[in-house]
Amino acid sequence: MTTQTSTQAAPFENGPRFDGRALRNAFGSFATGVTIVTTAGSDGADIGLTANSFSSVSLDPPMVLWSLAKTSMNMEAFCQSEYFAVHILSADQEDLSTRFASKVEDRFSGLALDRGPDGIPMLQECMARFACKVAYQYEGGDHVIFVGEIVDFNHSAQKPLLFHGGRYGMLLPKQIDTSEDVSSNLSSDDLLYQVSNAYFRTRHSVINELNRHNWTAEEYAVLSIIAREDGLCMPEIVARSEEVRGQAISATIVQSLIARGLLCEDESSDGKTGFKLTFEGKIAVMELISIRKASEAAVQSGLDPSEVQLLKHLLARLEYSPAQ
Ligand SMILES: Cc1cc2nc3c(=O)[nH]c(=O)nc-3n(C[C@H](O)[C@H](O)[C@H](O)COP(=O)(O)O)c2cc1C
Repeated sequence: MTTQTSTQAAPFENGPRFDGRALRNAFGSFATGVTIVTTAGSDGADIGLTANSFSSVSLDPPMVLWSLAKTSMNMEAFCQSEYFAVHILSADQEDLSTRFASKVEDRFSGLALDRGPDGIPMLQECMARFACKVAYQYEGGDHVIFVGEIVDFNHSAQKPLLFHGGRYGMLLPKQIDTSEDVSSNLSSDDLLYQVSNAYFRTRHSVINELNRHNWTAEEYAVLSIIAREDGLCMPEIVARSEEVRGQAISATIVQSLIARGLLCEDESSDGKTGFKLTFEGKIAVMELISIRKASEAAVQSGLDPSEVQLLKHLLARLEYSPAQ
């Protein structure tokens, strides 16, 4: 292992000084993946921290680098160890990144580990991992740069966890433009077409599931509206239904639920007649919740957790205001 001191230190001493926050923000505009770098202390303790300074360096010989802040509690351990391991995190491992960047008593607690060269801890769950032998250490201002030669690695195809502007993110591959006929106004590439198509497909599967259990979509709507807020009167139930489903509710549905003993009338102090769930109605709502959860799981089954998160985020951002 070679330790080199930077010959660039002197010119910077009297060189430009920048606003620290502005410089940090500028660095943060570079999107990176997130890694956990581990090693073993001289006493055999497992050591690791979150790092996004990782970069591949060379294919032949295979080399990588990363840098460690000189304020790190683990500087001595990394400087003395002959090996380190880099673990590239997948999109669902944000918690692990937070854990290895925080002051917790044992960052490795409960994690499944393999052992690398010299017994260094190797996390089992990650997207890719590299066991490295330290080749060089460089002074890098307030960091020390470690360059390692890869002695072993593995990789699995998953979606990476990203870091940009001080926030975690996920990869959204750029769409290849497949629209051939831009003049077509019924294009299956339209966002509106895709959203409504997805809505009808997913809604259809939920309604099928409700019907299979002898419930109609209207009964589900009334019971779930009243489950959220007891004491609503008929016009309020109709308004809520229009808000969440774009459809009104007929009074006969409410009457039939009363006849089945699932709803009862609830006279308020101002004389308004509202409706609330009976005991049997509350049990029915629990059944409906489990049907909805099963449908939710079925809809999500073709997506991985990071895609579900991304989809929810994008749908929440979608606002549609028709032209006036
Ligand atoms: C996304 C992310 C990336 C980070 N990258 C680095 C890095 O490359 N080098 C570093 O020294 N610290 C980095 N940190 C900060 C350390 O993980 C954090 O300061 C940790 O508490 C250091 O632990 P230690 O003092 O036990 O070594 C990063 C933190 C986060 C959340």
